[in-house]
Amino acid sequence: MDIYGEYREALEQVMEHLAEAIRRVSEEAEKRTGSGLYEHLIYRIKGDESMREKCRKKGLPETAQSALVAVRDAIGLRVVCRFVDDVYAVAEALKALPGVNVAEEKDYIRDVKPNGYRSYHLILSVEAPFADVRGENPGHFYAEVQLRTIAMDSWAALEHEMMYKHDAPNRKLLTAELKRCADELASCDVSMQTIRNMIRGEGGI
Ligand code: GTP
Ligand code: MG
Repeated sequence: MDIYGEYREALEQVMEHLAEAIRRVSEEAEKRTGSGLYEHLIYRIKGDESMREKCRKKGLPETAQSALVAVRDAIGLRVVCRFVDDVYAVAEALKALPGVNVAEEKDYIRDVKPNGYRSYHLILSVEAPFADVRGENPGHFYAEVQLRTIAMDSWAALEHEMMYKHDAPNRKLLTAELKRCADELASCDVSMQTIRNMIRGEGGI
């Protein structure tokens, strides 16, 4: 039995429900504007072993209670958008879904992390017709949604690679170069957004 026990099915259903909602709002936008709201959407249930490891790191017992209530990213979705406005459009659509409440919101696009990391994170609490670990039915299940642009996503992947390569030479230089790249990419994201707005006749000159 994995750490999620009898709740695994509910987690998969909740994840599918959120993914479906994201696909739907994107399709609606595509009908309206000719382009969808994201470039790609990926999602996963955190693997048994990596959830156990996270519980151990946090000093929590390896139980479904820890995995579903104390840790809130058992369900994880990542939405990678072409433009910054699309990030916020998807986030707003998620917040407006029936049965969905925002448990936590971190806007690292406005409040950039010192290393240059940008992304918009939501921890959602989703009501679903399954018993949860607290014994409630309908239950509530947390899901972490990371929303970012393609540029932010490439950057995060590269920075992640460096963080896991403990023997990378010139770490200080690489960290500084990554920060510089993050800021240049952000500047391009702003320009791209402005150009699209102008093309669409939504402001600009
Ligand atoms: P965890 O408990 O580790 O999940 O992090 P947290 O509670 O501090 O939450 P936060 O929203 O800051 O980060 C959640 C996830 O976002 C991480 O697990 C990473 O996948 C991603 N993330 C956050 N900061 C960075 C960063 O500086 N670089 C990269 N590459 N990814 C980051
Ligand atoms: Mg997390």
